Amino acid sequence: MMKSLWLILPLIGLTLGVPSPSCRCLSGETCWPKASDFSELASQLSQPLLHPKPPGSACYPADNPSGNCSDVMESVHSGQWRSDQPGSMQAPFLETFVFPNGTIDACYVNTTLGFPCRQGSIPVIGVDAQSVRDVQTAIRFTSTHNLRLVIKNTGRINFSHDYLGRSTARGSFVLWTHNLKNITYDPSFVPSGAPSGKSYQALTVGAGVQWNEAYDAAKTHNRVIVGGAGLTVGAAGGWVMGGGHGVLAPRHGLGVDNVIEFEVVTADGTHLTVNAFKNTDLFWALRGGGGGTYAIVLLATYATHDLVPLTVITGLANFTSSAVAKSVITEFMKIHPSLADDGWGSYAVLSKDMLQYIFAAPNVTSIDASSILDPFFTFMRNATGGQGVQNDTTHYDSFYAWNIDVFGLNNGVGNDFEIGSRFIPRSLAEQDPEKVADIMLTFPNGVGINFIAGGAVSKVDPDSTGLHPDWRKAIGLVNFSEGWVDGDPASVIEAARKKIKEGLNILQGLGSSTYFNGLKVIKDKYDPTGLFLVAGGVGSEDWDDSLNCRRLVQ
Ligand SMILES: Cc1cc2nc3c(=O)[nH]c(=O)nc-3n(C[C@H](O)[C@H](O)[C@H](O)COP(=O)(O)OP(=O)(O)OC[C@H]3O[C@@H](n4cnc5c(N)ncnc54)[C@H](O)[C@@H]3O)c2cc1C
Ligand SMILES: *[C@@H]1O[C@H](CO)[C@@H](O)[C@H](O)[C@H]1NC(C)=O
Ligand SMILES: *[C@@H]1O[C@H](CO)[C@@H](O)[C@H](O)[C@H]1NC(C)=O
Ligand SMILES: *[C@@H]1O[C@H](CO)[C@@H](O)[C@H](O)[C@H]1NC(C)=O
Ligand SMILES: *[C@@H]1O[C@H](CO)[C@@H](O)[C@H](O)[C@H]1NC(C)=O
Ligand SMILES: *[C@@H]1O[C@H](CO)[C@@H](O)[C@H](O)[C@H]1NC(C)=O
Ligand SMILES: *[C@@H]1O[C@H](CO)[C@@H](O)[C@H](O)[C@H]1NC(C)=O
Ligand SMILES: *[C@@H]1O[C@H](CO)[C@@H](O)[C@H](O)[C@H]1NC(C)=O
Ligand SMILES: *[C@@H]1O[C@H](CO)[C@@H](O)[C@H](O)[C@H]1NC(C)=O
Ligand SMILES: *[C@@H]1O[C@H](CO)[C@@H](O)[C@H](O)[C@H]1NC(C)=O
Ligand SMILES: *[C@@H]1O[C@H](CO)[C@@H](O)[C@H](O)[C@H]1NC(C)=O
Repeated sequence: MMKSLWLILPLIGLTLGVPSPSCRCLSGETCWPKASDFSELASQLSQPLLHPKPPGSACYPADNPSGNCSDVMESVHSGQWRSDQPGSMQAPFLETFVFPNGTIDACYVNTTLGFPCRQGSIPVIGVDAQSVRDVQTAIRFTSTHNLRLVIKNTGRINFSHDYLGRSTARGSFVLWTHNLKNITYDPSFVPSGAPSGKSYQALTVGAGVQWNEAYDAAKTHNRVIVGGAGLTVGAAGGWVMGGGHGVLAPRHGLGVDNVIEFEVVTADGTHLTVNAFKNTDLFWALRGGGGGTYAIVLLATYATHDLVPLTVITGLANFTSSAVAKSVITEFMKIHPSLADDGWGSYAVLSKDMLQYIFAAPNVTSIDASSILDPFFTFMRNATGGQGVQNDTTHYDSFYAWNIDVFGLNNGVGNDFEIGSRFIPRSLAEQDPEKVADIMLTFPNGVGINFIAGGAVSKVDPDSTGLHPDWRKAIGLVNFSEGWVDGDPASVIEAARKKIKEGLNILQGLGSSTYFNGLKVIKDKYDPTGLFLVAGGVGSEDWDDSLNCRRLVQ
């Protein structure tokens, strides 16, 4: 009797919420490191400690007397301006914190809303990593003091339905990778440990390098690299660890198919080279298993490709009826599988009222591109009664000339919205394009489609990377969003999220697979204490929704 009580008691203690070391120590708690601990940390770093502030704080003189609010107002929608600050995310809601009672802790740029400026979910302190040693020091300090560590690069919203920012957390300690800006080109790169022979014309980018910088570097060497459309997205962070797509993926594969080597620091502070010959399990997991989860990436080395011209065809069609919308979207779905096989990528926005598209055809002449697409344009003109269709063809020297022309560094970020997204299976686009059209046209505000799969993406063995295998069978990704504005109450945000859930249920009609691929085993091997945790990431299921306390083992 006594014996069994002894066994039961500790469990009761835990379920009653007795403080236990299975929770992270957050800023403001008594366990938080003392000023002297932080001074000692600072003495070991190459840069002063960071004390991130919300970007809007410059508009609250009491909080930030030296702030320049005009600068904030001018730049809130600039991706570059936001990524240059350790305390700024790309979407302002990621900087906020919503208490269970619905009160929102934020520092809104719009001061007339009448809220005080608060830290929200922005980390309170952190490291501006500029060397391997800085990264190791930060890891050791956060482990020793049991802090909540976040790895922040550019501070994005995740494409798929992310309730919590993955590169921010209330009361946390941030490791900021932004200033790891080294870039090197090696025309005969051989992966470390490779037996012999094969070398690559490779570009190695530091963890803080952004696509605009990587593109410039590759272009200098007359090479092309597969990267994203968002020019201020990180080239070696969450982009590649989540798959990494771009308009050149159907020609050359995804980011994960182009990365040859990573240099990382693991949770125990070890500095490792990771590639097809060394630490191969980690190499597998880092290629698609999600950012912020297995290790801190310091460098990524990518294969580059011959630079070729790019033909870009843009246009739109206005629909006069839902029957016209249905027939045009159905036809539109049918043409993509073979275009992807020819190395084309494209982006589109569509609704019951219109279709807008950009096709990017690498190394295809304008004349050839026209003759390939003309049957589709003819179809559209006939379906719409000859009205409302417009198309333009532009020939660019290279992928880069197009990027500079079309995408900027001030790319309309800084708005509050959640995104829902899902794969469009190639087989469905081929066999039942009407069904795909019906599903897309269900969304009252329309959807966006990235046709960045198929072609080379489908030729890769699905088991060769930790990426979700549905990527290999997809023709693209469809996404939709629900937005709100700063100052909206928690109930409005909840309603938007509910709509995202409903939208995702509709997209289930495209087919789905739940799937376990062994990433957890690798996570537990390299990060047994769960130092690297992100919402929805591998290993997060062992933690509560705040990711601050381990769930009780049943
Ligand atoms: C405007 C815009 C355009 C986009 N365009 C594209 C596109 O064309 N193609 C595409 O594939 N995606 C695109 N995305 C999505 C983008 O790839 C993801 O949001 C990606 O996670 C951003 O990664 P980041 O490193 O820049 O940002 P962060 O938010 O800082 O990081 C994302 C995640 O990766 C982790 N992480 C970052 N750096 C490291 C590191 N060095 N080591 C370990 N973990 C790290 C973070 O902890 C976080 O969990 C776009 C997003 C936006 C907002
Ligand atoms: C504040 O920012 C604005 C806009 O960027 C700039 O024009 C102005 O010179 C800045 N003022 C100061 C005092 O730095
Ligand atoms: C909601 O909770 C927060 C944090 O506990 C508290 O500061 C705030 O006063 C509460 N708001 C209301 C309206 O109860
Ligand atoms: C700021 O908030 C006020 C009050 O809600 C609103 O009227 C105004 O449009 C907002 N300004 C901006 C720039 O969003
Ligand atoms: C960046 O490059 C410089 C010069 O080659 C080198 O000294 C430094 O160690 C590199 N930094 C990192 C973090 O790799
Ligand atoms: C976004 O989150 C999903 C899980 O919710 C994950 O599978 C995916 O890899 C993430 N994408 C990026 C780019 O981090
Ligand atoms: C580009 O196209 C031309 C003409 O078809 C072809 O000769 C050349 O090999 C192609 N270049 C590449 C890098 O694919
Ligand atoms: C665009 O439309 C015009 C007019 O119908 C046509 O001549 C041209 O071939 C079309 N195609 C492209 C790719 O521009
Ligand atoms: C043209 O559109 C009409 C309906 O608007 C359709 O019946 C006909 O088959 C179409 N012709 C072609 C060649 O697509
Ligand atoms: C399509 O509709 C939009 C909005 O009504 C209009 O501005 C545009 O000129 C139309 N385009 C064509 C090609 O008819
Ligand atoms: C799809 O995602 C992109 C990238 O974030 C976004 O700009 C666009 O507004 C989204 N489209 C829709 C219809 O949600």
